[in-house]
Amino acid sequence: MTSRIWNFSAGPAVLPESVLEEAKDNLLSLGSTGIGICEHSHRGKPFMAVAAEAEALCRELAGIPDDYAVLFLQGGASLQFSMVPMNFLTPDRTADYLVTGMWSEKAVKEAKPWGKVHSACSSKDQNFSYIPDVATYSDSPVYVHFTSNNTIFGTQFRSEPQALPKDAFLVCDASSDIFSRPIDIRKYGLIYAGAQKNLGPSGVTLVIVRKDLVEAGNKSLATMLQYRTHAENESMYNTPPTFGIYLMMLVFRWIRQQGGLAAMEQRNEAKAKVLYDYLDQSAVFRPTARPDSRSRMNVTFVTGNEERDNAFVKKAEAAGFSGLKGHRSVGGMRASIYNAFPVEGVHALVQFLKDFEASL
Ligand SMILES: Cc1ncc(COP(=O)(O)O)c(C=O)c1O
Repeated sequence: MTSRIWNFSAGPAVLPESVLEEAKDNLLSLGSTGIGICEHSHRGKPFMAVAAEAEALCRELAGIPDDYAVLFLQGGASLQFSMVPMNFLTPDRTADYLVTGMWSEKAVKEAKPWGKVHSACSSKDQNFSYIPDVATYSDSPVYVHFTSNNTIFGTQFRSEPQALPKDAFLVCDASSDIFSRPIDIRKYGLIYAGAQKNLGPSGVTLVIVRKDLVEAGNKSLATMLQYRTHAENESMYNTPPTFGIYLMMLVFRWIRQQGGLAAMEQRNEAKAKVLYDYLDQSAVFRPTARPDSRSRMNVTFVTGNEERDNAFVKKAEAAGFSGLKGHRSVGGMRASIYNAFPVEGVHALVQFLKDFEASL
């Protein structure tokens, strides 16, 4: 088999090797069923058991109370940009958005056709390189939406936005840091995340939503766009993304084996520290995010010279460090070091950065 290289991709991203090994075995036969995981009916017992375990593990890991539904949907986080306002926003009401990057801007765009949108804060003035300290909310928003980790700009909220307006519920796009640290679900009305960074392959989106909100959602939408359809049918109204749910179940088992979300947080903090510590003292490379806003998932950095950035990325690629090119709106480099990214890979990158610096 071709040996694996260090994959710093922002998503789809690296998955735990033990998960991939197990999935490989089960592609031809799920357990002793004689039918591969992708070939099983979603209504059959073997797959129903997979889906039930995925949900149970998800609830256990994050401590999700019974009055929240756990849904496995399709359409990516991008469809959630629309489903949230479609279900909850009305033309006479306002939704508040914390605008901290391109993904929040996209969420804002999809909300506008459904009601009023208020930008409670924005860090656009400095190319989204920080998380604003204050948010100014509108009088009585239906919900407050934020992006917990800004994949492109390498910034992350340290905790949930504080002092929410009374009666507003909190909505979070947690696509790029879901389950990277413990989470207090009770603080949220709805959390969504595409799986392809911390939870599994692309094609499945995890949605955790309070059941009373599901009930209150807009009933005149197309069936597939109402949360209630998926909640009432345990995400099996139509054929669900069976392989994605299976892989997510294996990733949940892996997270539990590692010690759960608290262990994930420790591991992620330690990994990010190795990289930021090096970058902070480097004479060539510097991180782009404000120190108090730095992401532990996506570490963005530059040399300050585009040609040198490009030369670095090219050399890194040739040496087996893949996916380090930064998003075009930031330039430079981005090392995505999600849950499954091994600490050895971070040490290897730091050594490579040092060698590059020494070679100049
Ligand atoms: C924070 C965030 N939100 C939303 C998206 C869009 O997700 P999807 O491609 O699953 O629609 C991404 C993708 O990278 C993301 O990082």
